[in-house]
Amino acid sequence: MSAIESVLHEKRVFPPSAKASAGAAISGMDAYKALAEQAERDYEGFWAGLARDTLSWHKPFTKVLDESKAPFYTWFEDGELNASYNCLDRHVEAGRGADNAIIFEADDGTVTNVTYQDLLERVSRLANALKKRGVKKGDRVVIYLPMSVEGVVAMQACVRIGATHSVVFGGFSSKSLNERLVDVGAVALITADEQMRGGKALPLKSIADEALAAGGCEKVKDVIVYQRTGGKVAWTEGRDAWLHEIVENESAQCEPEWVGAEHPLFILYTSGSTGKPKGVQHSTAGTLLWAAQTMKWTFDMKPGDIFWCTADIGWITGHSYIAYGPLAIGATQVMFEGVPTYPHAGRFWEMIDRHKVTIFYTAPTAIRSLIKVSEADAKVHPKSYDLSTLRILGTVGEPINPEAWMWYHENVGRGQCPIVDTWWQTETGGHMITPLPGATPLVPGSCTLPLPGIMAAVVDETGQDVPNGQGGILVVKRPWPSMLRNVWGDPKRYQTSYFPEELGGKLYLAGDGAVRDKESGYFTIMGRIDDVLNVSGHRLGTMEIESALVANPMVAEAAVVGRPDDTTGEAVVAFVVLKRSRPEGDEAKQIATELRNWVGKEIGPIAKPKDIRFGENLPKTRSGKIMRRLLRSLAKGEEITQDVSTLENPAILDQLGEAR
Ligand code: WT7
Repeated sequence: MSAIESVLHEKRVFPPSAKASAGAAISGMDAYKALAEQAERDYEGFWAGLARDTLSWHKPFTKVLDESKAPFYTWFEDGELNASYNCLDRHVEAGRGADNAIIFEADDGTVTNVTYQDLLERVSRLANALKKRGVKKGDRVVIYLPMSVEGVVAMQACVRIGATHSVVFGGFSSKSLNERLVDVGAVALITADEQMRGGKALPLKSIADEALAAGGCEKVKDVIVYQRTGGKVAWTEGRDAWLHEIVENESAQCEPEWVGAEHPLFILYTSGSTGKPKGVQHSTAGTLLWAAQTMKWTFDMKPGDIFWCTADIGWITGHSYIAYGPLAIGATQVMFEGVPTYPHAGRFWEMIDRHKVTIFYTAPTAIRSLIKVSEADAKVHPKSYDLSTLRILGTVGEPINPEAWMWYHENVGRGQCPIVDTWWQTETGGHMITPLPGATPLVPGSCTLPLPGIMAAVVDETGQDVPNGQGGILVVKRPWPSMLRNVWGDPKRYQTSYFPEELGGKLYLAGDGAVRDKESGYFTIMGRIDDVLNVSGHRLGTMEIESALVANPMVAEAAVVGRPDDTTGEAVVAFVVLKRSRPEGDEAKQIATELRNWVGKEIGPIAKPKDIRFGENLPKTRSGKIMRRLLRSLAKGEEITQDVSTLENPAILDQLGEAR
């Protein structure tokens, strides 16, 4: 039985404990329903109320939602604010400057506490240094940094002066970095000499140098380098500067630049089903509002809580739930530089124990990989650590199979912590469908119900609602404040990707399939319905990997599909036709390794195919269309039961079906 089928047959229900409900922000299903109904009744009033209560405005808004240029919506448009002021100054002004904002644990275990006062000063210094270098409101700054306090400081410093940041995950290749620098039109790049992961130093500055040398990004005048390891780096005089040197003599005060609510807060690239990655453009007020609000609702975050989100700042989760959400509400959070298996696979549990974490948020793929090791080695099993401070657990990024859910619940949550399985996307800015820890009865593998104000639904190919119990396309029926505003530089693509004509042009198309339970109406996500793969919670376009493969001089043709994988959720399988004859045996192995490394260089190690199969051709219809459905079956090792009579070359299936 596949993970999805077993979710659909899941009968276990875990109601919230009295302890979880007591004092929760949303303390039961009645409270949830009241909020959801309020949003239905007075949609704009609902959102306006939250925006007034949760954010500090320099100039209050008078308009709420403007739909006149749909699907280019605006929210709170005439209001003015600054995200960095909301995340830092207002807590310091309220006398909480000595509270810890970030408890940073380095790869080697060194712990550094950063208070709100410290963070404000560091952000202000860098903001002043950026201004001195001519970075101004509306400019784009690319950030290519490891998990570090400096990463958060860089993001906050940009938004403090009204610059829009675009963070590129430190695992991306120079080519991926170059494409993003060019597309976003960056004027500056903030990077590090190296990053430390699992005891190893990995280069960043040299990759950044390569990316800049690849051309198209001549507008980048400044490269600011955080010295993490002291490793040797090449230096371009006049362009490169050490972060610690340029902030040294800057003032620790920097007046925030007040921006309009719709001013782009950040642009974050993500994969789609076609073409190059899309620059998902987020607004200042809407995204900050929802990051803060969901900290309160989904995580029930209260004073005294210690929050830990294990995501990297290079992904949306690290934006909304490290760099913005926790800071916007004045929380204390743990931030971790390293990897969950170094120096041993009990690192997460050891850190929860050490820092007395109360709310822990991670990806199913991490849980699944830790199950394997800890069931084999008691020393690194969560039961060997004191996890009694934990009160809420969360997951994000991919479906969690009920087995992993139960293990997480029993072993990490000691059977006592609600698990919030949060469904959302880069484009949604924050949580969309998720349990509420003090309200929602949990069903393993289901993300349960939409948050108040989020009009999620399941429809058919024409945009009509399907009855509960019947699978369909996941959509959102009304705009919400934290939704993306545009695809950077490509409004047409924004419209066609997210508001397709086939669905009537008004529904937000998430790209996932979903089904709602007949009785409860709970949502279960069935995975992507487009050519997007989810490998370890990382989003990859099959087309991107295919383009990378065919860019190799040996390759004539390539098709990439996903295959379910016990640990990574999905694994990349590539079917490749070489320009020369089909390789076999050791030669096939050697070329496969070469191609895998090639993809690593072209995109980044996360995109490397797990399995590469060579054929003399690919299965095609007589009109030349590659039959991906068949490739998916072959990748899974399934017997082909489909009708193959329309295939031009059925014999090819035998060749591609055999495991390498
Ligand atoms: C895609 C979005 C959400 C931030 C990290 C990933 C999948 C995400 C869940 C979940 C099932 C999930 C979807 C979605 N996804 N959360 N709780 N259950 N699937 O953001 O890279 O933009 O990817 O991740 O397929 O469309 P992203």
